[in-house]
Amino acid sequence: MDDYKTRIRQLRTELNRHNHSYYVLNAPTVSDFEFDAMMRELQELEAAHPDMADPNSPTQRVGSDLAQSGFAQVEHRYPMLSLANTYSPDEIREWYLRVQRGLGGEPFEVVCELKFDGTSISLWYDDGRLTRAVTRGDGVRGDDVTANVRTVRSIPLVLEGDGWPRSFEMRGEILMPWAVFDRINAEREEQEEPLFANPRNAASGTLKLQNSAEVSRRSLDAYLYYMLGENLPCATHYDNMQLARSWGFKVSGAMKLCRSLDEIVAYMDHWDTERKNLPVATDGMVLKVNSLAQQRSLGYTAKSPRWAIAYKFQAERACTRLLSVSYQVGRTGVITPVANLDPVQLSGTVVKRASLHNADIIAQLDLHCGDMVYVEKGGEIIPKITGVEESLRAVGTQPVRFITECPECGATLVRDEGEAAHYCPNSDGCPPQIKGLLEHFTHRKAMNIDGLGSETVALLYEKGLVRDVSDFYRLTVDDIAPLDRLGKKSARNIMAGLEASKSVPFARVLFALGIRFVGETVAKRLTAAFRDIDSLMSASYDRLVEVEEIGGRIAESVLEYFSNPAHRALIERLKEAGLTMVEEDTALLSDRLAGKSVVISGTFARHSRDEYKALIAAHGGKNVGGVSSKTDYLLAGDNMGPAKLEKAGKLGVRIITEDEFLTMIGEA
Ligand code: IVH
Repeated sequence: MDDYKTRIRQLRTELNRHNHSYYVLNAPTVSDFEFDAMMRELQELEAAHPDMADPNSPTQRVGSDLAQSGFAQVEHRYPMLSLANTYSPDEIREWYLRVQRGLGGEPFEVVCELKFDGTSISLWYDDGRLTRAVTRGDGVRGDDVTANVRTVRSIPLVLEGDGWPRSFEMRGEILMPWAVFDRINAEREEQEEPLFANPRNAASGTLKLQNSAEVSRRSLDAYLYYMLGENLPCATHYDNMQLARSWGFKVSGAMKLCRSLDEIVAYMDHWDTERKNLPVATDGMVLKVNSLAQQRSLGYTAKSPRWAIAYKFQAERACTRLLSVSYQVGRTGVITPVANLDPVQLSGTVVKRASLHNADIIAQLDLHCGDMVYVEKGGEIIPKITGVEESLRAVGTQPVRFITECPECGATLVRDEGEAAHYCPNSDGCPPQIKGLLEHFTHRKAMNIDGLGSETVALLYEKGLVRDVSDFYRLTVDDIAPLDRLGKKSARNIMAGLEASKSVPFARVLFALGIRFVGETVAKRLTAAFRDIDSLMSASYDRLVEVEEIGGRIAESVLEYFSNPAHRALIERLKEAGLTMVEEDTALLSDRLAGKSVVISGTFARHSRDEYKALIAAHGGKNVGGVSSKTDYLLAGDNMGPAKLEKAGKLGVRIITEDEFLTMIGEA
């Protein structure tokens, strides 16, 4: 009768075991195909038997696209302390001697571990099941991020083996592996989103996302290094960690039991270089007295345990001369100061330039021309200046003064109240800003003009053929074909791309104009509310801020943009060129896809992706970005990403071809 219950339990146990082999032991025990088949069976059974729903089921690892509304604050059962830390091996020796004295000379062991550089997490287990995951917060209370943490495949949702306390806590570090960090930054670059500075920021930013399906896609990892509770199974930290490993936790294999200062020093020397081969970031080592009884007798200072200390690896640093500071003007007019350095070797590359970020940083460093400065790479992508060697400063040098005029167009720079950055306000007359705007206009997410990449746009600008975005629509094949690297074929391609861009929906046209603070989402809100460009151009401040998600800053920017006669004239020229300036009513063609959510991936032969998006909407369906357990169909074209395909397979999402889709909506 209750056969399904047995089968569901069996599938969950097996899937948990395979997950553990794959994500914790890095040793898969089953083929993807078999794994997917089991996962699908479990999903179907769970869907048919809601009485068996379980937040700790392996089907829940993919998270949910439904936005969470903030995080509940939870009080820690035990405060989350940090560790005393040092960069000096001498202070490690002093700590060791202090512990020795504190223990009255009795023998003791020290567990040496790596210090993982992510964001700390506290995991609560009751009866062998994950019940809560809490961030450090202020150490006393943290955010309940359980839904997000459930997506971290290396964290066990249900423990294996036996012998765990009924109720206990595991603490550790949530990390973004280097490979994932690189992949996500590459994606962000492609989408013109700001890059993560280092894997630590990326991990903590990801853990605070309000969308656990996105967290799931980011492939976080976790190492656990500390067990807390009333009835811990063993009398030493080391033994407790070995047991934790047998219950399914990812406990680092780099943990070593040391019985003397010499052994500790050898461990430090070894890992100082060896850590560079690890898949995750580490920033030092942690030393812990092994015996829990000895830990208790040593106790705590106000801030940290006396029984542990962190030794931080020195970030690689070089000292070199600051030759000059130059200033770059970005596409939005933001000015970035860049230090030009006497070339110096740093972690395997020659560094000639370093970012100085903004005027405040220059002032804080009290940077003078010709100073000897310290450059560090750390986890950051671009090296930065972290200090000045004032003892080497020559007499009579002058402090670096931030420029007051734009180096490209001479306009007086402005800095808004409370903003760190200076920017050039001459957006219509400053060459890099014009070029930036032209490029933005043609971008895939804006007018999506085939054949007009950034190099071609720059060429058209430099040849004087295009000065503002309306000039694109006056180009002829004869204008383009004679240009370097182009020719008739490319010219025709560009002309076709321009023609096609005239049917790009109004929201994307508005986004393409590059109005400050009007990103994709804001543009959609505005076009949905005002329906056509004339209504938007004549909207008052009060009408603008009535629109959902439109605040004062955006409203002011929109008003300012349209109050400029040059911009109004530009809009007229774009209208004449035939661009879409009204919100089209998407009349429902049928309800064949009513209530269905569809993910589009890959390229198609019969319609463009945008046309498919419109078709989905026109037949009552919803187009969504990522595959989740709530997705009904994955419309799969050519060259689609293997990750999406794999995920759809795992989740049992129906994969349909272009033809199948067209048959479905009666267009075949
Ligand atoms: S033990 C009371 N072990 O570093 C001792 N911490 O500054 C609890 N960390 O908050 C921490 N690797 O976020 C410990 N192997 C390790 C660690 C580690 C990284 C982090 C952790 C902690 C901070 C201490």
